[in-house]
Amino acid sequence: MAKKQSRKGNLKSLLKQHNQENQKKLKELKIKENLVNLQKFKKDKITGNKKNISTQQQHNLLTVPFENPDDILFLVGEGDFSYVRSLIESNYHHKPQNIIATSYDNSLKELNLKYPTTFKENYDFLIEKGVKIMLGVDATNLVKSLKISKRTGVNKILNVERLDCIIFNFPHTGAGVKDVDRNIQQHQKLLLNFFKSANELLGLFNAYNANKCTDSYAQSYKTVTNNNKTKGNNCRLTVSLFKGLPYDNWQLKKIANTNDWKTLTTFKFEWEKFQGYQHRRTNSEMSTTKKFDEREARVHLFDKVGVLQKKKTQKNDNEDSENEN
Ligand SMILES: C[S@@+](CC[C@H](N)C(=O)[O-])C[C@H]1O[C@@H](n2cnc3c(N)ncnc32)[C@H](O)[C@@H]1O
Repeated sequence: MAKKQSRKGNLKSLLKQHNQENQKKLKELKIKENLVNLQKFKKDKITGNKKNISTQQQHNLLTVPFENPDDILFLVGEGDFSYVRSLIESNYHHKPQNIIATSYDNSLKELNLKYPTTFKENYDFLIEKGVKIMLGVDATNLVKSLKISKRTGVNKILNVERLDCIIFNFPHTGAGVKDVDRNIQQHQKLLLNFFKSANELLGLFNAYNANKCTDSYAQSYKTVTNNNKTKGNNCRLTVSLFKGLPYDNWQLKKIANTNDWKTLTTFKFEWEKFQGYQHRRTNSEMSTTKKFDEREARVHLFDKVGVLQKKKTQKNDNEDSENEN
């Protein structure tokens, strides 16, 4: 009887040990699986692999220049504001209060005269949705034209604490192309000063956020948010351009690079995905000789890190985590 009981006890402890080992193996397997998934997710996000990301991210991927539907957008050089409207109506952006849309033109009257059939309706729609619209904003001199000073503060003028994406679609001075070289120079100057000016504006946000974080609680908050996503420094900058001459001669990427903006990616501007968007000329509603949506255009995306550095960091991260295993 005693022998029978001790055999039963042995069996029980063997079973327990077996179960524990199984649990341990399962746990290890799960950790490995999670790690692989995490690495794959990170890679897909950078390389644009559409399989393993959320439906909304897939919807936005390589169609619009921003990552998340509630990102803080700052648009310069808007025409009749139909692009911003289409971002909301086509469901690419879900939080209109996070959009600041600006025009180089100084008054509503001017915009109504330039774009008589579309501007008013777009403007009313955007105001109703809560988009912040600002006029007389010079992309080449943002800080001054936005009237930002030490006293006013960048956050108070724009009502946000950071920017995620600055967008300039089809920058153009409106100047004719009689003198081709002069025209190219003018546009290179426009782009050069735009990149510089964006640096200046983002610098003010960085300074504002750094000053905000003075006590120890704020410092640790800053570390956490910076580790998650260096929002202040990680703002993207986008320029859309038609393909072909004279635009190819503007040397956009070179100009971006000289101002510390690095290429993140470039993709086709798919007109048909922006219902209601009317690409507008600088001076009027009149169409160009060839209809805009029959012309090939590309979206160029820059940030301060660039895709090459991102891939390098990712490779190092992968190697580090493999070494940890
Ligand atoms: C070809 S239109 C494109 C308009 C609009 N982005 C679109 O896609 O329909 C060029 C735009 O660049 C703007 N622009 C030219 N110089 C600018 C500057 N220094 N700052 C801001 N916008 C400027 C013009 O006012 C005009 O709205």
